[in-house]
Amino acid sequence: MHLYGTQQIENGHLTIGGVDTVALAKEYGTPLFVYDTALIRQRARGFKETFEKLGVTAQVAYASKAFACVAAYQLAAQENLSLDVVSGGELFTAIKAGFPAERIHFHGNNKSFAELELAFATGIGCIVVDNFYEIALLKEISEEREQKMNILLRVTPGVEAHTHDFITTGQADSKFGFDLNNGQADEAFTQVKDHPYLQLLGLHCHIGSQIFETDGFALAAGKVMAKMGAWKADHGFEATVLNLGGGFGIRYTEEDKPLEPHIYVEEMIKSVQREAKELKLSMPEIWIEPGRSLVGDAGTSLYTVGSQKTVPGIREYIAVDGGMSDNIRPALYDAKYEAAIANKADQVKDATYTVAGKLCESGDKLLIDAALQQAEAGDILAMFCTGAYGYSMASNYNRVPRPAVVFVESGEHQLAIQRESYEDLVVNDLPLTLKKGE
Ligand code: LLP
Repeated sequence: MHLYGTQQIENGHLTIGGVDTVALAKEYGTPLFVYDTALIRQRARGFKETFEKLGVTAQVAYASKAFACVAAYQLAAQENLSLDVVSGGELFTAIKAGFPAERIHFHGNNKSFAELELAFATGIGCIVVDNFYEIALLKEISEEREQKMNILLRVTPGVEAHTHDFITTGQADSKFGFDLNNGQADEAFTQVKDHPYLQLLGLHCHIGSQIFETDGFALAAGKVMAKMGAWKADHGFEATVLNLGGGFGIRYTEEDKPLEPHIYVEEMIKSVQREAKELKLSMPEIWIEPGRSLVGDAGTSLYTVGSQKTVPGIREYIAVDGGMSDNIRPALYDAKYEAAIANKADQVKDATYTVAGKLCESGDKLLIDAALQQAEAGDILAMFCTGAYGYSMASNYNRVPRPAVVFVESGEHQLAIQRESYEDLVVNDLPLTLKKGE
């Protein structure tokens, strides 16, 4: 059984951060997300130290769409990370958490006027500009407020990477960013370069998610650096920042063979240094935006096993007290995970179960034909590597309250997000006031 971070098996039980997961399930209830914060810190430090070791000025921005809450933002702040937010809601939460505004970067392909105003009002460090409509809004807001704002232009370099493959296309069919190859990026540059309040730092690109190779990053860096070279030659503009996005892959199952995080960074740095030398550009700051690779394998979901069903000759189901409402990834992406029975963690996995959720949807299955210990009602099922895009994509489908989230470290544990109550579910509901037949 693969154990992540500080996970151990002690007295037959799975522990995380020195805390018995069965005891956590008992104390906080299930479904429960448990985060190994020491592992998040280790990953954050790994990225930052690699840049430091190689003497490259950098910002490592946590892509908080992977998992956002006040305590997560405070943890990111403690680790001196920067922050990538993609909505007014994430920005608001970060500010509430006391995250230093100057280290917040704001993304999104349709930021509203109100969201951009919030970005100016809170004085964030950078807006990653996605499209021409946004440029117009930014000009209006910055001129009205007479306030400067750092910006990056997000470009689509025509490189799309996923897991082991990447594809290159002349024209990138993406809803995000300015196309690097068809003149859009140049037009955006022209529109912002001399603006008195919009301060263009450089370019951003993000090529995909769950990437296991470095070639895609190198290729994208090459294309973006070439554009920077052209803008220097043609306009005397020298970009100081190159943001290469996130997407570093992690291990969900034994099929996944990700690189060590530092390898992605080292290879990235090498290719930017090579390009800078060739194009006679000064080395830009490199910014990255890891989400999944900071929090993914630090998260474990705990569920309580309930009903079982045998479909003779086909499969054996066990059902748990959560499902697609707290982890939509298996249903949405056919995502694969590994699991264990937390209270029988030292026993052999000699059973095969399909783990069904409790939601009214046939596709609500968390694991298909998974190797597990023999299960019975009341057992605690631990599903590994659910820290990224689990809680953050959770819903109230079937009016199921969203789970609680607990942080554990060095034998201590604390609630980071309370479990939703039934009362929480109706807090925004209003009674019917339309009069019948009028
Ligand atoms: N930067 C940008 C601009 C992004 O769009 C993303 C992810 C990231 C950084 C962080 O990527 P990461 O390091 O986490 O791969 N819900 C999907 C993933 C969506 C990713 C969206 N953008 C999933 O559950 O797999």
